[in-house]
Amino acid sequence: MKIMFVCLGNICRSPTAHAIAQKRAIEQGLTYITFSSSGTSGYHVGEHPDERAITHGAQHGYDLSRLTAQRLTQDDFYEQDLLLTMDEQNYQDVLAMQPSDATASIKRLLDYHPDPKFAQVPDPYYGGQAGFDAVIAMCETAIDALFSELGNK
Ligand code: 4NP
Repeated sequence: MKIMFVCLGNICRSPTAHAIAQKRAIEQGLTYITFSSSGTSGYHVGEHPDERAITHGAQHGYDLSRLTAQRLTQDDFYEQDLLLTMDEQNYQDVLAMQPSDATASIKRLLDYHPDPKFAQVPDPYYGGQAGFDAVIAMCETAIDALFSELGNK
């Protein structure tokens, strides 16, 4: 199974979710899932994640340092099984790009978060350091819930 996390720039939120999922899948023995991430924009293609995302990830035990930003492509709609968006704008942008015969499912990551108050992962790019920790906490909770749903199938 192939899961891709999608945000706008692929330098803050989706690489954070990617690194969290990769680590927790190994810990939980979910070796049949492979993870990737991308952005709906091409602004940061080829760059490593934002320094703040790398630093905050490392403080929580997640290694983002080797990831590089890529843009979501048409091929991803066929090669991936599940595209998980971070906020509502990402979700609408991905739906707008979706080919009519796409095979990937498209969902919002926080659809899996047990608390409906968390509907979107806010963009931390223009905010303070606390935003990066908030992203990590929301992604951890939603990813654990996703994994338990997958594990129950
Ligand atoms: P991300 O954050 O979508 O979580 O990677 C952003 C990074 C860069 C920009 C916007 C959001 N930007 O406009 O450059």
